[in-house]
Amino acid sequence: MSRLLKFNIFRYNPEESSSRPRMEEFVLEETDSMTLFIALNRLREEQDPALQFDFCCRAGICGSCGMVINGRPGLACHTKTQDLPGEITLLPLPVFKLVGDLSVDTGSWFREMYTRTESWIHTDKAFDPCALEERMENRDAIAIYELERCVECGCCISACGTARLRDDFLGAAGLTRVGRFLIDPRDQRTNDDHYEIIGNDMGIFGCMGLLACEDVCPKHLPLQNQLGFLRRKMGITSLKRLFFKG
Ligand code: SF4
Ligand code: SF4
Ligand code: FES
Repeated sequence: MSRLLKFNIFRYNPEESSSRPRMEEFVLEETDSMTLFIALNRLREEQDPALQFDFCCRAGICGSCGMVINGRPGLACHTKTQDLPGEITLLPLPVFKLVGDLSVDTGSWFREMYTRTESWIHTDKAFDPCALEERMENRDAIAIYELERCVECGCCISACGTARLRDDFLGAAGLTRVGRFLIDPRDQRTNDDHYEIIGNDMGIFGCMGLLACEDVCPKHLPLQNQLGFLRRKMGITSLKRLFFKG
């Protein structure tokens, strides 16, 4: 006999002046291999068409279905109800702007982060459309690819104590983005250039190192290694700036 799942879901529509933040209860019969994506769609189709949440790919690729599932940020399409208790509490990801119910605006946060970290290859080489493709060491390509797997779900930011305290903190996703360009041999920026962006409390020195980000990342990015790498790099850069400049 299948379980009856009890859902406690955060409801609030900031666009409606009469709306008040509250929790609402729903009950749904569990089906085989049910994911939270399936459950939420059924709740919207069968019980409340106004329920707001985000989905796109249903396959852990687009990163849009991040939410807090029984106290832990995660992807709803990647979460099977059979791995959860019979009572499931769903909240929107904190830190990001609430669109309504479980839907948040991660896009604006990531766009601003990309602008702040100048998230593109910096080179003074003129672009030649006829030039042969330049080979990159396999080791470098694999290391860059590993960091490019981020799906911008925002789970690491929502789990981060520093990001909850200060809205200008770059978080693991932002810092990892800087690390991705730091190891790219095509990018001509120096450690000093990167220090200007992340050598402060908004960057790597604001990180408390408790690694909630690594715990919740649904794509298992090597966030712990990246944060350690950046802390060492920027620590050495800061000492060099202190002793060998001005
Ligand atoms: S280790 Fe740093 S980036 Fe990760 S959750 Fe903690 S403070 Fe945030
Ligand atoms: S680093 Fe992981 S948790 Fe953070 S946004 Fe990227 S995929 Fe999501
Ligand atoms: S719907 Fe795309 S990651 Fe969940």
